Amino acid sequence: MELDQLKAQVHERPLPRHVGIIMDGNGRWALDRGLVRLEGHRRGSDSVREVTRAARRIGLEAITLYAFSAQNWQRPPSEVEGLMDLLRDYLVRERAEIMDNGIRLHAIGDLDRLPARVRDPLEAIRAESAGNSKMILTLALSYGGREEIIAMVKKVAEDRLAPEDVDAAAIEARLWTHGLPPLELVVRTSGEVRVSNFLLWQLAYAEIHLTETLWPDFGERDLLLALADFQRRERRFGHTSAQIRKA
Ligand code: IPE
Ligand code: IPE
Ligand code: MG
Repeated sequence: MELDQLKAQVHERPLPRHVGIIMDGNGRWALDRGLVRLEGHRRGSDSVREVTRAARRIGLEAITLYAFSAQNWQRPPSEVEGLMDLLRDYLVRERAEIMDNGIRLHAIGDLDRLPARVRDPLEAIRAESAGNSKMILTLALSYGGREEIIAMVKKVAEDRLAPEDVDAAAIEARLWTHGLPPLELVVRTSGEVRVSNFLLWQLAYAEIHLTETLWPDFGERDLLLALADFQRRERRFGHTSAQIRKA
């Protein structure tokens, strides 16, 4: 389908309020071309720019990009260092684009583990963009869903919540994603079929779109195809199909 036709089609139906993307396949993309893994990550950061731009143009309310997991610290130190350099470069380079497009930058994860060269520009743009309201771009950095749940449970204990006061709202108020719209679509690239510790609580009723495309090859068209796929789903939340169609 032509890109313009696809765009028109996607604009006709409701969009997911919040899209999460597990950006996978950078290493394989590079190795397929006889390049070093870091080159794949570098090309992956170009995809981040293209997809963010496209998401903003399409009018998505929120996107969350899984950029570095809590478990990714276990990769070879040279790859971790290279990824941190790329993150710093990305933040420095994208600052103007984020501000010009009214995007609010947010980050979730154990940010204290990030080196200062990443944390400092991240905090600066986060503060500077706090008043922006066109789209929320959340970077999941040093992020793990289990780690988020552990942090949430610690807050529940610190707040000395009585058992009868523990409900979904009390939990959500203590998750790192507090304040973000509900996650409605998760995309994973590179053909892997697993969650890899991404937004475990929030995934409960998200639709999942899987694609073989490697992250460095993923662009506006792929995002539109994922949104069109979402729009074809019948979201039942435990009800029957007949109940949903009547509502
Ligand atoms: C995703 O690409 C980027 C990160 C996890 C940081 P990978 O580096 O996981 O690429 P593959 O899975 O090895 O191809
Ligand atoms: C998930 O990808 C994490 C990110 C995309 C940042 P991984 O490549 O780390 O996941 P596994 O190890 O294949 O499950
Ligand atoms: Mg991977």
